Order: sequence, then structure tokens, then C-alpha cells
Amino acid sequence: MAFPHVKQGVILLSLALSLAALTAAGCATGTATVLASGDPVADRQRLMKNNGANWADIQHKVKAGNVEAVAVNAEAIALHAQRIPLLFPQGSLNAKSKAKPDIWERWPEFQAAAKNLENRASTLRDQALAKDAAAVQATVATFGRDACGTCHTPFRVPTQQPAQPRS
Ligand code: HEC
Repeated sequence: MAFPHVKQGVILLSLALSLAALTAAGCATGTATVLASGDPVADRQRLMKNNGANWADIQHKVKAGNVEAVAVNAEAIALHAQRIPLLFPQGSLNAKSKAKPDIWERWPEFQAAAKNLENRASTLRDQALAKDAAAVQATVATFGRDACGTCHTPFRVPTQQPAQPRS
């Protein structure tokens, strides 16, 4: 073969083209094709668990005075936030889900709550990258309530209190 790299290039190009075609087909059929497992309840609970883990990590790092290190966690939460609306397709409720039907009755508010999380997490990331400890601490102080709670309160069934121990 005189020009092996040319052939390789052609193969890569055709691969890229078929990927592009697949992506276009996926977009045409709606959000279901973007989901990882086809089970949106499992996917969003997995994403939310990771939000919880990142948020716990942020709090530990801030307590330890390591504010710069929260940038990676804040960025992860911002990226997760962009995907939240995709993981709540209409009618995706089952017995395992803690999502309230209000989500689909007040969809623009739900989307705004996801956008609010994305904005606040991006702000926190930038403050961390700027090593602005005071700003990071101020954002973290209200983050649980203003970034997560503003959506959980209206749109998530409260988690049950643990049973009271008998005396
Ligand atoms: C836009 C709305 C919204 C925002 C913002 C949001 N959540 Fe959630 N979260 C939900 C909903 C709805 C559920 C319930 C999903 C279900 O069970 O189907 C949930 C569930 C959870 C769960 C339980 C997951 C499980 O194991 O079932 C955790 C933990 C969680 N969220 C953490 C967070 C944290 C931490 C933040 C902020 C960094 C956050 N969430 C921001 C809507 C939101």
C-alpha cells in the first residue's frame, strides 16, 4: 500500500460520518436515546447520589481550608445540572422514585431550578479557581438551601424520618 495513512484517513472519516448520522438519528427520536441505561429513574438517582457525594466533599474540603480543591467538585455539579431536565422525561415515575408529579405540571420552574444549580455551581467553581476563600465560604454557606433545597422542597417527596427508637 503506497499511502497507508490516506486509507486510514478515509476509514476515520467514514467512521466520523456514521457517528454523525447516528447522533442526528438520536436527536430526532427525542431525549430517550441520550439516557445511559434506558431507566431514567435509576439514571437520575445515580446522578443525584453523585451530587450528594460531591457536595459532601466540598464541605469537607472547605472545613479543612482547602478551598481551591472544590473547583473540580463544583464543575462536576454544574455538568450534572445541565443533564437534570433530560433525566426527567414526561411520565417517568415509578414506585422507587421520589420525584413529585409537580415537576411536569410546573416544568419551567423545574428547569429554572436546574439552571439555578448550574449557575451557582459555576460561580463556586470560579471562586475556587480564583482562590477566593471568603467568596467560596459565603457560597457554600447557602448552597445546600439555595442550590439543592430550592428544587428538593417543591419537587421531591421528603425522605422519611427514621423510626423513633422505643424507650
Ligand atoms: C432541579 C431539581 C433538583 C436539584 C437542583 C437538585 N436535586 Fe437532588 N433530587 C431531585 C429530585 C426530583 C430527586 C428525586 C429523584 C427520584 O427519586 O426520581 C432528587 C434526589 C436526590 C438524592 C437522592 C438520590 C437517591 O439515592 O435516590 C440526593 C442525594 C440528591 N438529590 C442530592 C442533591 C444535591 C446534593 C443537590 C445540589 C448539589 C441536588 N440534589 C440538587 C431534584 C433536584
